[in-house]
Amino acid sequence: MSSTNRLIADIAKLRKEKKAVILAHNYQPGIIQDIADLTGDSLELSRRARDTDAHVIVFCGVHFMAETAAILNPDKVVVLPSPTAGCAMADMITAQDMRRIREEHPGMPIVTYVNSTAEVKAESTVCCTSANVNRVVASFKEEKAVYLVPDQNLALYAARHTDKKVYYWNGYCPVHHRLTAEAVRRARESHPDAVFVAHPECRPEVLDLADVITSTSGMLRFAKESTHRAFLIGTETGILHPLRRDNPDKAFYPVSPQMVCSDMKKITLADIVRSLETLTPRVQVPEAIRLKALQAVERMLQI
Ligand code: 13P
Ligand code: SF4
Repeated sequence: MSSTNRLIADIAKLRKEKKAVILAHNYQPGIIQDIADLTGDSLELSRRARDTDAHVIVFCGVHFMAETAAILNPDKVVVLPSPTAGCAMADMITAQDMRRIREEHPGMPIVTYVNSTAEVKAESTVCCTSANVNRVVASFKEEKAVYLVPDQNLALYAARHTDKKVYYWNGYCPVHHRLTAEAVRRARESHPDAVFVAHPECRPEVLDLADVITSTSGMLRFAKESTHRAFLIGTETGILHPLRRDNPDKAFYPVSPQMVCSDMKKITLADIVRSLETLTPRVQVPEAIRLKALQAVERMLQI
């Protein structure tokens, strides 16, 4: 048996023994997505984490995702197989920054992208993901303005879909922000028949060139349903694995091969085996912060 197959067999055995569920984000390495019980975008994985009856959640993604699962499941063991898998954007705003925003904009709803720490979520009115940001902003029927943190690009995208004034924090995802309109134009020249699908974390001038703007799972749905044969994909390259696996008769090209999130590539099969054996590294959120963050996450899940 190859060492990969042995690790996969160990995971299958331990998963049963520990009553564990393995969740994986769409950006994870292909092999991790293939052995996971469930894959999805941030919103789907939050819902799955809330609804699971497993005792242990092995979260293959980055820290804020495992933390969201821990916020929703205080009685379950949530493990993140690589403890250093973080998110550069989540680290661009602190709870102190949030309190300053509230002082400067008293009463204004603060809509916080789930790509944020539990402490930041705890200071928020509601959370959102790239899949539901427009619905979340629209849910504030009376308010004339909202403050969106930490992603400036997601905020500018949301501003296109609302009459409200959208204030925003200057954070960004380095993987998506790096993509320029010029790079998109060059890719379109190389693949003139392809439709260009972009993630809302891309810059506004990139979104201007997109045929479709959607979350990672939105891309999977669109590719399946579309009659187009070729797609230029404007997000982290991990999504190419399920796109190609699920649509063998269609062609998918990364708009830029540089769109790789190194944090999303840290978890290995051996890490998952170790996590299942030891139930570490565990992700826990102090109860006072968890309860405040839970309100913002639950409010989002109800919208
Ligand atoms: P999705 O919510 O579309 O899965 O995106 C998560 C993310 O981290 C994007 O960079
Ligand atoms: Fe964070 Fe960007 Fe990586 Fe997503 S792709 S986890 S937003 S750094």
